[in-house]
Amino acid sequence: MVTVPQAPTLVRRGAQRPWHAAIAGAWAAIVVLVPAPGGAAEAPEVVQTVCAASHGPDGNSVAPTFPRLAGLQAEYLEKQMREFLSGKRRNEIMDASLPALKTADLTAVAAYYASQKPAAGAVADAKLAAAGKAIFDDGNTTSGVPACSGCHLPTGAGNERYPRLAGQHAVYTVAQVQAFKTGSRSNDKARVMRAVAARMSDDEIAAVAEYIAGL
Ligand code: HEC
Repeated sequence: MVTVPQAPTLVRRGAQRPWHAAIAGAWAAIVVLVPAPGGAAEAPEVVQTVCAASHGPDGNSVAPTFPRLAGLQAEYLEKQMREFLSGKRRNEIMDASLPALKTADLTAVAAYYASQKPAAGAVADAKLAAAGKAIFDDGNTTSGVPACSGCHLPTGAGNERYPRLAGQHAVYTVAQVQAFKTGSRSNDKARVMRAVAARMSDDEIAAVAEYIAGL
């Protein structure tokens, strides 16, 4: 009768997977989780295949009708994507991207664009921007337009409650404020932006959008 001794078997198994190989494996896993020095995390797949074409791979879109997303608050970006999916916010151009968004990790997409560096803003019409600055900083006391800076901050950078506006394309800002004014965009909690926009003239909207583009 042959009996296989226990102890030597265990030693042999251990020899097949030496301790230093196990530690090297664990170390490799840690290295993968830490982003490369200086480099941002890689864009989620849906950003590369769908969003980047309109919003840019780093969220600094070139075409003025497509909003810049770089540096916008992640909570805000995720809220917007979820509301496009639920139909609470509507946009014909976004409709084509909704099937892709349905299966994407929206939290990761929002975090990715939020972590991108916004490109410097630019003003095309300095006189118009100066008129816009007055509204942005102080509002219009006659018609009751509140100062945008009161919520979106004087720099336009926003915070965890109010989205970043700074550097946004004027064409997009005009379209959004007009949409709040007519009510075709109605996903603002407590009608905050609809109440602001309702008091604004078309000239004021154009001016403030021009100022925001340069922030
Ligand atoms: C009382 C606070 C408040 C004030 C004042 C305010 N906003 Fe807003 N604004 C908001 C909130 C909240 C949202 C986000 C709405 C949502 O959840 O979709 C918003 C969203 C926006 C957006 C949409 C941004 C995007 O990327 O889609 C624009 C544009 C905007 N505001 C412009 C302005 C301008 C211009 C003014 C000044 C005339 C202004 N806001 C004043 C609270 C405010």
